[in-house]
Amino acid sequence: MSHHLVKRFSSKERLVHWTNMCTFIVLTLTGLGLYSQTFFGLTSIFGGVDMSRVIHHYAGLVFIATTFLIFFQWFKDFTAAGEDSLGDVISSYMNHDYESPPSGKLNAGQKLLGFIVFSFGVIMGLTGIFMWFPDLLGRGIQQWMYFLHNFVFILFMLLILLHVYLGTAASPGTWRGMYKGTVTKAWAKKHHGAWDGDEV
Ligand code: HEM
Repeated sequence: MSHHLVKRFSSKERLVHWTNMCTFIVLTLTGLGLYSQTFFGLTSIFGGVDMSRVIHHYAGLVFIATTFLIFFQWFKDFTAAGEDSLGDVISSYMNHDYESPPSGKLNAGQKLLGFIVFSFGVIMGLTGIFMWFPDLLGRGIQQWMYFLHNFVFILFMLLILLHVYLGTAASPGTWRGMYKGTVTKAWAKKHHGAWDGDEV
C-alpha cells in the first residue's frame, strides 16, 4: 500500500477516453488525407483513398459512441457545483505563480470542455452521417453539412491540441491519471484542492 497516491480514473473510464483519443487521431489523419491535396500522402498510411474513407466512416461511429460514453460517465463531475471561477482557472494556467483555485475533481475549465467536446462530437457525427449518405438531404442543405463538418473540425482540433498541452506538458503529473489511473497527493492538493479523492 502506498499512501501518497490518489485514485483519479477507473480502468473503464480510461478505456473509454483512450478509445476516443485513438479514434480522434485516426479520424484526423484519414480526414486530412481525404480532404486536402496537401495531406493526400496520409491516405497511403491507411492503404489508399478508398480504405481511408472506409476507416474514417467506421472510426467515426466508434468516436461518436465513445463521445456519448465520456459525457455520461463524467456527467456528474461536469455538472458538480464548484467554488472555482473560469477566470481563476485560466489565470492559473497562464501564470505558474498564480495559485490554482480550490477546484473539485474537475475545474471550471474542464467542465466547460466536457460540454464543448460533447457538442462538437454530436455536430461532427450528424454532419458526417449526412455526408456518408448524401441522398438523405437536398443539395443545398448537403453543402452546409460539408461546411459545418470542416469548420467544426478546425475548432475541434485546436481545442484538443490545447487539451493535450494542458493535460501533459503544461501540468506535469496530470497525464499519469489517464495513463495509470492514479495521481500523487501533492498533485491533487495543488490542482484540485477541494477534491477528496480516495487513497490507494
Ligand atoms: C489526443 C490526445 C489526448 C490526450 C493526451 C488527453 C489527455 C487527457 C488527460 C490527461 C485527462 C485527465 C485530466 C485530469 O485528470 O485533470 C483528460 C480528460 C478529458 N479528456 Fe482528454 N486527452 C486527449 C484526447 C481527448 C479527446 C479527443 C477528447 C474528446 C473529444 C477528450 C476529452 C476529455 C474530457 C472531456 C476530459 C475530462 C475533462 C478534463 O479533464 O479536461 N480528450 N484528457
